Amino acid sequence: MGGERKKILLVDDDPVIREVLAALFEGEQYEIEQAENGQVALQKVQDSFYDHIITDLSMPVMGGLELLENLQKLGVEAIITVISAHSELSSVSQAFKLGACDFIAKPFGSDQEILLTLRQAEEKSRLKKDNIRLQQEVEDKYIFSNIVAKSKVMAAIFSAIIKIADYKTTVLITGESGTGKELIARAIHYNSARKKAPLIDVNCGGIPENLLESELFGYVKGAFTDAKRTKKGLFEEADGGTLFLDEIGDMPLPLQVKLLRALQEEEIRPLGQGQSTKVDVRIIAATAKNLRDELKEGRFREDLFYRVNVLALEVPPLRRRKEDIPLLIDFFIQKYNERLGLHMKGVDGPCLKKLVDYRWPGNVRELENVVERSMALTDNEILVVADLPDEIRKLPALAAADFEEDGLSVKKNRISMEKRLITRALAETKGNRTKAAAVLEMSIPALLYKIKEYQVEEGVK
Ligand SMILES: Nc1ncnc2c1ncn2[C@@H]1O[C@H](COP(=O)(O)OP(=O)(O)OP(=O)(O)O)[C@@H](O)[C@H]1O
Ligand SMILES: [Mg+2]
Repeated sequence: MGGERKKILLVDDDPVIREVLAALFEGEQYEIEQAENGQVALQKVQDSFYDHIITDLSMPVMGGLELLENLQKLGVEAIITVISAHSELSSVSQAFKLGACDFIAKPFGSDQEILLTLRQAEEKSRLKKDNIRLQQEVEDKYIFSNIVAKSKVMAAIFSAIIKIADYKTTVLITGESGTGKELIARAIHYNSARKKAPLIDVNCGGIPENLLESELFGYVKGAFTDAKRTKKGLFEEADGGTLFLDEIGDMPLPLQVKLLRALQEEEIRPLGQGQSTKVDVRIIAATAKNLRDELKEGRFREDLFYRVNVLALEVPPLRRRKEDIPLLIDFFIQKYNERLGLHMKGVDGPCLKKLVDYRWPGNVRELENVVERSMALTDNEILVVADLPDEIRKLPALAAADFEEDGLSVKKNRISMEKRLITRALAETKGNRTKAAAVLEMSIPALLYKIKEYQVEEGVK
């Protein structure tokens, strides 16, 4: 990649015009192919990649506008310049709408003018791409301040991000769902020297195996029935940048082999292509699963595990960094004040206590949803306990166990403590005994026994 000659596809029904332009561009280190009408061009575009397409507008079989429409449908990314006579100006404006970058007027001006037009089209297209990326960057500039946290564990993660950002080392981010793994992946990329190159996301869990393979590695036309055109894989899209493999624990085994090879060789081979292509990609992977468990179960390859788990960042669940909760609540209240056009001031003391006490199985994502929902539903300026969803509002209090009723008897206090914990676990899991047992870290039979023994009343009341 890079350093190669750029390819131009010249589309015109007049062979003389094609030859004139071909001679001109070849002298300028471009590689030229020709097509005599839109249909032939369309065929070629599906077979290989062109940096530029220069096309006439009126041609037999398939004209320029129809060609542009088809290119758009196919998602072809070439820089398009149209050739047009002055009489065709309305078609030119149509062509711009269909993705053309510039036009060359017929009859032609000087060679320099034509070359300049092409360079300008290149520049415009580069600016357009940069703009999209810049826009992203502006959004992402604050990405670090978008991760709200003050707990020690998160501070340690922040400093790790800064330290490792510039290395090409593979990073594995683990943590329960909703803890902010994706935010951290983005922070690594946008704090790294690779930030000007793309950050490409792939959800390894959500896509069927064969589709995922072609997404990752790309394919050439005809590699399989639906491969109507050559398509770059995400590895190549991320060249120079970062590839974020989300939910890597869900990647099917056969693909794990291919991924491992790509990581080791730093090259990929698109489906149906003979040779491999070098890629320079930094990998960040994330998973909510415990990869060591997946290893033991034979669902994750050991060699890939060691290749990916070079630098591990473990994001703790929200319930283990409760000091972040008040900060996050403020942050989300501000966010949704803006989004929903509200002027809410915060939460009152008892409400905050409920929110801090809650276990947050869905972590920050769940907290964000709860804040948003409560804000949308309330008429108050300050959120109160009554505004909270049932499962949080109705949690029996956990702390402040008063020992008075049972004196200092360890046995009696243990029983009342157990009873409270069980009642609460059942409330949080909406009566799901399997989940409750897991939360309590006790076996299901033990839980069932104790529910009966202590006459625990079940369900959220
Ligand atoms: N520390 C944080 N500060 C602000 N917002 C956060 C923080 N952590 C998470 N969020 C928000 O919570 C939501 C979930 O975060 P994210 O998608 O990064 O989690 P995840 O760990 O990738 O989850 P999953 O495993 O389900 O994909 C996002 O809307 C994100 O913006
Ligand atoms: Mg995620």
